[in-house]
Amino acid sequence: MTRGLVVGNWKMNLDHVEAVHLTQQLVSVLASRPAQHVDVTVAPPFVDLRSVASVVEAERSLISVAAQHVNDHESGAFTGEVSVTMLRRLGVATVLVGHSERRSLFHMDDQLVASTLRAVRRGGLDAILCVGESLATREARDERSFVRAQIAAALGALEGHDGVTVAYEPVWAIGTGQSATTTQVAEMVDEIRDEAARCGYAAARVLYGGSVTADNAAQIATEGRVDGFLVGGASLKAESFAAIVSACNDCYAERR
Ligand code: PGA
Repeated sequence: MTRGLVVGNWKMNLDHVEAVHLTQQLVSVLASRPAQHVDVTVAPPFVDLRSVASVVEAERSLISVAAQHVNDHESGAFTGEVSVTMLRRLGVATVLVGHSERRSLFHMDDQLVASTLRAVRRGGLDAILCVGESLATREARDERSFVRAQIAAALGALEGHDGVTVAYEPVWAIGTGQSATTTQVAEMVDEIRDEAARCGYAAARVLYGGSVTADNAAQIATEGRVDGFLVGGASLKAESFAAIVSACNDCYAERR
């Protein structure tokens, strides 16, 4: 049986001092409310990664550290970019690949998502592949084939069968306060599991992201049949993030 996974995507929030503070708070709340069935990951901005990894190591916490993005090249003339090797040496275990904000604001197309995913796996790090349709795509009732195509383009370029989690994040639900309904989540999760299996990733965990809060997490975890969450806004406060971790953990405890 797989374990749940809850990932906090801090986006471009919190400088390294604030990041250390939040990590310390998280370590202490999670220690007081152990979540045996769930892995917990935080994805701070690049400049915070070492500080956050140091806190986690010093506290011997099980929280793992992810980066929000990486360049698909190993080294060279890519001003402003960071490589997989650099991240690994900082203690980073996982990288988010193809978050919708990277896709829409930084021109990350399916091809670049695929080569970034390849670079992450080749470098021995785990990846969280983000997929999800826009509102226009959903209104055109094209969301299933759209998301399947995103997955096929990314996973089809890989050789292995593990180390990838898929996060379903409908673009219209991100940061809007309007999460997908549990029916919408469950339907898409089935679709994603099927497509991932077709690409050789039958065991991939599937997360949901998009306006997840302490109030809706339990219902989405149970009825949406997800393996966990990718959390933006609600991951910036230790209390709300820990509540989401607990909700996911309770759901896993019941499934056992
Ligand atoms: P949100 O962001 O929880 O603030 O909607 C989720 C994400 O972008 O990963």
